[in-house]
Amino acid sequence: MLLLLLKANLGGVTCLMPMISISPTLPVNIRLWMASFPKHATSWPLIPATNYFVPSTRNQQGKQFSLSDAAYFVFHSPYNKLVQKSFARLVFSDFVRNASSIDEAAKEKLTPFSTLSGDESYQSRDLEKVSQQVAKPLYEAKVQPTTLVPKQVGNMYTASLYAAFVSLLHNKSSELAGKRVILFSYGSGLTATMFSLKLNEGQHPFSLSNIATVMDVSTKLKSRHEFSTVKFDETMQLMEHRYGGKDFVTSKDCSLLAPGTYYLTEVDSMYRRFYAKKPVDGACENGSHSNGH
Ligand SMILES: *[C@@H]1O[C@H](CO)[C@@H](O)[C@H](O)[C@H]1NC(C)=O
Ligand SMILES: *[C@@H]1O[C@H](CO)[C@@H](O)[C@H](O)[C@H]1NC(C)=O
Ligand SMILES: *[C@@H]1O[C@H](CO)[C@@H](O)[C@H](O)[C@H]1NC(C)=O
Repeated sequence: MLLLLLKANLGGVTCLMPMISISPTLPVNIRLWMASFPKHATSWPLIPATNYFVPSTRNQQGKQFSLSDAAYFVFHSPYNKLVQKSFARLVFSDFVRNASSIDEAAKEKLTPFSTLSGDESYQSRDLEKVSQQVAKPLYEAKVQPTTLVPKQVGNMYTASLYAAFVSLLHNKSSELAGKRVILFSYGSGLTATMFSLKLNEGQHPFSLSNIATVMDVSTKLKSRHEFSTVKFDETMQLMEHRYGGKDFVTSKDCSLLAPGTYYLTEVDSMYRRFYAKKPVDGACENGSHSNGH
């Protein structure tokens, strides 16, 4: 669904993909660079990506891009605190560039930090606190609507950014027409990407409101099952035990699977995998395995 949406919107999109990457053949340098941001290993790719993104992006008046030029900011979200910190860092970097998004009151609060070097600014707890405080109203308006699914589901790694984007579509749907959204993606690798989408109100079935309806995020979140930690532990142990294993059949109980789901039924002695599909009308099939090797 999401892929279709991006495609449907590409026509009207300003899509910048500045990539930050370091040659994987230079592992020593990489380690040194990581080591220079010990406490901020998680936010280190944000600033280089921003530093690329901002000067290369002009708003409609030809001015340098600032936080005021986008309606929403969507972040890779291992956990929400990091999203808050990352956004606060963007606010500080707007301040350093004297961008229009920073009002007089905010300027006053951030001025004591204006002489910090880059490294010092990463180390400063006080700056972290003050910039989060200054960023709060902007965070509420531009970031909060993107946080629902990552907060509810936890870290999804690659999917995390797109789950945040889905949250925004769910929360704002057709209000997003004509709005610019900045997305920031990075993984545990060495690539960070900041890019910008401008959303258009597509035609049915690709209208923003229909996409939100079809995604049906509330129902999906509500249909999750709650388990005790003991059961969770048992499940994880089973998974660990079977990982890369052979010669086992899986539990016949597929009551928790959504209708239409393909599921593993068996791995035989030659590591061949067998699957079945839960019928769309509910009950589990029994026996008709297809070889999905
Ligand atoms: C910052 O921007 C304001 C107006 O946006 C301008 O009056 C002021 O001179 C700028 N300050 C610096 C240090 O560039
Ligand atoms: C959007 O999110 C806000 C909280 O961030 C919530 O109060 C509001 O009800 C949500 N709106 C929709 C349509 O989900
Ligand atoms: C599947 O078959 C087994 C025995 O062949 C039976 O005990 C079980 O109830 C069946 N499960 C379903 C969901 O039909």
